[in-house]
Amino acid sequence: MDSFLIKGGAPLNGEVTVSGSKNAALPILLASIAVDGDVQYGNVPDLRDIRTTIRLLNILGRGASLEDGRVLVKNGEMGIEAPYDLVKTMRASVLCLGPLLARKREAKVSLPGGCAIGARPVDQHLLALESMGASFDLQNGYIHGTCPDGLKGAHFSFSMPTVGGTENALMAACLAQGETVMENVAREPEIVDLANFLNRCGARIEGQGSSVITVKGVERLYGCSYDIMPDRIEAGTFLVAAGVTGGELFVRNCPAADMAALLGKLREAGMEIEEREGGVLARAASPLKAVDISTQPHPGFPTDMQPQFMVLLCRAQGPGMVRENIFENRFMHVQELVRMGADIQVNGPSALVRGTGRLEGAPVMASDLRAGAALVLAGLCAEGETRVQRIYHIDRGYERLEEKLSAVGADIRRVHEQE
Ligand code: EPZ
Repeated sequence: MDSFLIKGGAPLNGEVTVSGSKNAALPILLASIAVDGDVQYGNVPDLRDIRTTIRLLNILGRGASLEDGRVLVKNGEMGIEAPYDLVKTMRASVLCLGPLLARKREAKVSLPGGCAIGARPVDQHLLALESMGASFDLQNGYIHGTCPDGLKGAHFSFSMPTVGGTENALMAACLAQGETVMENVAREPEIVDLANFLNRCGARIEGQGSSVITVKGVERLYGCSYDIMPDRIEAGTFLVAAGVTGGELFVRNCPAADMAALLGKLREAGMEIEEREGGVLARAASPLKAVDISTQPHPGFPTDMQPQFMVLLCRAQGPGMVRENIFENRFMHVQELVRMGADIQVNGPSALVRGTGRLEGAPVMASDLRAGAALVLAGLCAEGETRVQRIYHIDRGYERLEEKLSAVGADIRRVHEQE
C-alpha cells in the first residue's frame, strides 16, 4: 500500500488547477445507462472511483474508456447486474439503480455497505423509485428491482435532502411516463450538473438547485457530449492548504459561486479570498482566527470540507467548535490529529478544537477520503516529517495530489510500502 511522506513547513505559493468533480462525474457517467446513444465526456478526473465506474459500465455492456480526461461510453446491449465485488469498492455504484430501471425495467445491484463515516442507508432511494412504480426485494445482499410496465411519473418528498437519492430518482424520472415532482431534494451543484447533462440528452428537467425538481418524462434520451463541472471540494482543499501553510495560491477553475459558505468561513478566519477571472486567489493571514462551523446540506457548509477545515482550526489561535450534522461518524481524523499534537475534544456530533497554532509530524493513517486529505494538510504545516498511510483512500478523490502540491512548493512524495 502507498503512503505519502511529507516534510512540513514550506508555505505553498503559485497556481494550482482544479480537476473535474468526482461527485458530479460519478452520477453523470452512470446516467449514460439511460441514454440510447454514444456519450462523449470531457474534464473527467483520473481517479480510482472513475476507473471503477468505467469498469462497471463495461460489465453492464457499455464499451467505456478513459483517455486524457475524456471518456467515451458507447451504446450497446446492456445487462442489469452490478456485482458485489465491484459495488463493495465503491458505494456510489448504487446510482446505476435508477437509470437501469428506467432503461431496462430491471436492476440487480449489490446492496452498498456502510463506510468509515457512517451506515449510509439507501432507504430514500428505494422509496422514491417505489413511488414511480418499481418494486424491490432484497435477496442475498442484492437489491433486485423491477418495473415491468415501466416507471410512472409520481409526486413525492424525501425525508432529508439526500444527494444520491435525488440523483437516482432524477435519472429514473427522465424516462418515466408522465410528470414527476420531487420535493425536499438535495440542492448540491453536482445535482445541477447532472440535470444539465440529462437535459442535453433531451430530458425535460426544471428546478434543479432548488428544493423542488419537476421532470416531464420523455421516450428516449439521445447521445451527446458534455464537460464535467470543476470539483468544489478539491478546490476548497487547496484554499485551506494556502491558509494552513501561510502561503498564497491561485486556484484555477475554482467554482466560487458554488462555495459561498466555505469562502465566508475562510474570510471569517482571516484569510484573504479574492474571486478573480478564472479562479480564486487565497492568501493566508497570520494569525488565523478560530471560527465555528456546522455542516449542512448545500448551500450550507459542506460536510466534505469538515475534516480539512479542522486542520485550519488547529493552526488558528483559540477555540473553534465543529458540528457534524450530516454523517454520524465523520471524526475519524480527530485521533490522528491529536497524535500530531492537536487539542480536540469530541462530544457526540461536536468537536471543540483548541487551536495552538502548531502541529508535530507523526505517522498517521487515512480512514476515508476527506480524513486522508486533512492529514495531508496537517503534514504540510506540521514541524518535521509526517507519513500518511493508506492513501488509496485519497486516490479515490484527488487527481495527482502529490504532483499538484509539489508544483507549488510542498515537500511530499509517494512511497510504496509493504504493510
Ligand atoms: C454524497 O454522498 C457524496 N458522495 C458524499 O461525498 C457527500 O458527503 C454527501 O453526498 C453529502 O453531501 C457522492 O456524491 C458520490 P446523502 P451520499 O445521501 O449521496 C442519509 C466524498 O467525500 N441518508 O446526501 O451518500 C445518510 O445516511 C463523499 O466525496 C439516509 O438516511 O449522501 C446521510 O446521513 C463522502 N437514507 C445523509 O442522508 C438514504 O436513503 C446524507 O447522505 C440516503 C441518505
